[in-house]
Amino acid sequence: MNAEELNRTARMLVTDHKGLLAMDESNPTCNKRFARLGIPQTVEARRDYRELIVTTPSLGEYISGAILCDETIRQTKKDGTPFVQALTEVGIITGIKVDTGAKDMAGHPGEMVTEGLDGLRDRLREFSQMGAHFSKWRAVIAVNDRLPSRGCIEANAQALARYAALCQERGMVPVIEPEVLMDGDHTLQRCCDVTEEVLRTVFDQLYRQSVNLQGMILKPNMVLPGLMCPTQESVDEVADATVNCLLRAVPAAVPGIAFLSGGQSGELASARLNAMNLRFKSRMPWELAFSFSRAIQQPALEIWLGQGTNATAAQSALLQRARCNKAARRGEYCTAMEIDS
Ligand code: G3H
Repeated sequence: MNAEELNRTARMLVTDHKGLLAMDESNPTCNKRFARLGIPQTVEARRDYRELIVTTPSLGEYISGAILCDETIRQTKKDGTPFVQALTEVGIITGIKVDTGAKDMAGHPGEMVTEGLDGLRDRLREFSQMGAHFSKWRAVIAVNDRLPSRGCIEANAQALARYAALCQERGMVPVIEPEVLMDGDHTLQRCCDVTEEVLRTVFDQLYRQSVNLQGMILKPNMVLPGLMCPTQESVDEVADATVNCLLRAVPAAVPGIAFLSGGQSGELASARLNAMNLRFKSRMPWELAFSFSRAIQQPALEIWLGQGTNATAAQSALLQRARCNKAARRGEYCTAMEIDS
């Protein structure tokens, strides 16, 4: 493992106010999103959609890295150019999702543990030979009055750390994603407490597994009330709760934190990221960026609808969200940016 190289790649992923585009939905998840909009759930439709994304003009001005899934990293544009090459040509670093999904956790009703460690060393070698420089692993943590259990937090944190160590061994930057879910009626304070406990456990495990903190990116949830919670705090309250939680739990050695969107609307995700960067500008030791999937892609998908004639308009919508999030990283996002689009 070359620590300097890892650190350089990690810093490049969060440089220049850019962020990551997660386009690594598994086939079942992608198909579910297609089905809702009446788009055929075929390999070719998924390829067409991913080609639309990677060929969006000027995407590299806003996006530093794109996370692909196993199917997509092997695909090409219609003219035969591999997606990895198309991304590299516009300055976007290729990443790859390497977990094999969250599965029901034995002995822990209602909880999941993420799988994918078996054979991971070999898969990382293959992906790195295909041009991937970073990778992602997502753990999911459910919240209610009795969850999460310590068993679930510890199992997921250890898997994240073992994944990260293997990734760095191959010279790839791990994007470490422990997601505390928004589903439920829990309060913002409860999300804050659970997120802090999860992050402390993850960093404890990263230390035990000798992971180089300067060669990783953390991809956490924002601290939010559950979707069904009657009290929904303001953008500034969410920003304060989130950054204060991160300041308590994330070591300064980590170069960047890139949030998942978790089901927030694109506008709200941008507004909250903006408030964090604005209110805590000089007080954060790490770059505060984004690694959104739905909060960047959803409007584009709703315009595209599987029709080639809608591709240009869908690309504009995608670029608009990417532009808003780059502005949010500078603390320069405002709702007028949405109206002007
Ligand atoms: O694994 C989930 C993605 O990386 C982030 O997706 O922004 O839609 O939550 P999201």
